[in-house]
Amino acid sequence: LLADKGNYSHFMAKEIHEQPEVVGRTVAHYVDLATGTVRLPEEVAIDFAAIDRLAIAACGTAYYAGIIAKYWFEQLARLPVEIDVASEFRYREPPLTGRGLALFISQSGETADTLASLRYAKAAGWPALAVVNVATSTIARESDVVAPTLAGPEIGVASTKAFTCQLAVLLALAIHAGRARGVLSAQEEQELVDALVGVPSHMTKVLARETQVEQVARDLAKARDVLYLGRGLSYALALEGALKLKELSYIHAEGYAAGELKHGPIALIDEAMPVIVLAPRDKVFEKTVSNVQEVAARGGRIILIGDAHAAGEAGLAGETAVVMPEVHPAVVPLLYALPVQLLSYHTARVMGKDVDQPRNLAKSVTVE
Ligand code: G6P
Repeated sequence: LLADKGNYSHFMAKEIHEQPEVVGRTVAHYVDLATGTVRLPEEVAIDFAAIDRLAIAACGTAYYAGIIAKYWFEQLARLPVEIDVASEFRYREPPLTGRGLALFISQSGETADTLASLRYAKAAGWPALAVVNVATSTIARESDVVAPTLAGPEIGVASTKAFTCQLAVLLALAIHAGRARGVLSAQEEQELVDALVGVPSHMTKVLARETQVEQVARDLAKARDVLYLGRGLSYALALEGALKLKELSYIHAEGYAAGELKHGPIALIDEAMPVIVLAPRDKVFEKTVSNVQEVAARGGRIILIGDAHAAGEAGLAGETAVVMPEVHPAVVPLLYALPVQLLSYHTARVMGKDVDQPRNLAKSVTVE
């Protein structure tokens, strides 16, 4: 049997802990370590200077990787990006005109709606790029260009290592696009590549803090509702955190853009509802801090995920639940994904749920 849990009690735990290795392997496939530049594999031949639009479609966790990619492509390469969940994309029938590229992200490469979206884009005359984990899959076969993630087989129903490998590939592609489109300087490329290459060792440090996360999970297991907040690159991670928690623990969770707090979810806040705030010190940190203070002022229970100085700056000394390393803001999603995954894993485990096989869910959704 290929699949083996090793010393772990669940595939999900094993796959979470494999991330430094598989992300390292994936990064090495897309960068030249010696020169600190992105070097795409030969078969990943895309001329990003020749396009003026990118359309992304994917499902579930892969869709959240797509939202993060949208921010990267827009910021680093000034390439306009639209993104849909694949089940909307295929029936919305977006007009694909001009010089565009369609991007599909999928672990399995078999998700029915993503495949239908790929066929739609190709029929409309756009080339299709797929970021997939299963090289022999239908989506890989039908795409014009395949950018593989080298996560290895993922068995846990909830995607973990495939997600961070998708992020690694997408960031490498966005950096490459930024250079091709004359947006990034050679020095900026080098800084970003250095940050990307440094991710696996930071991941190892974060995984070493698992007991901090377990403590939070014991508390979270008693909650009825949980809110996740983030801005910028952490917004989609807030959505991913909520998805993971609800699918594994069956606790109701919502992810929100922190700036939307006052447009609704703030009404829910009381002592009983934990609010998990993803607060890396990026350019929107101050804004996130003011949202944290709005939660605190209403007696909300804040679980802060940030670096060692974040809590102090937010006026919440001692409140950081999970202390994160300080890294280049562009690679934050790759690292902050780990506490988000561990939180849902440990919460579900503490509650005695079937982590690898949550009820009603399938690893690969090949029907509509
Ligand atoms: C299912 C899985 C998710 C996954 C989604 C998309 O819902 O449970 O973990 O993110 O499908 O799957 P794909 O294989 O296309 O990435």
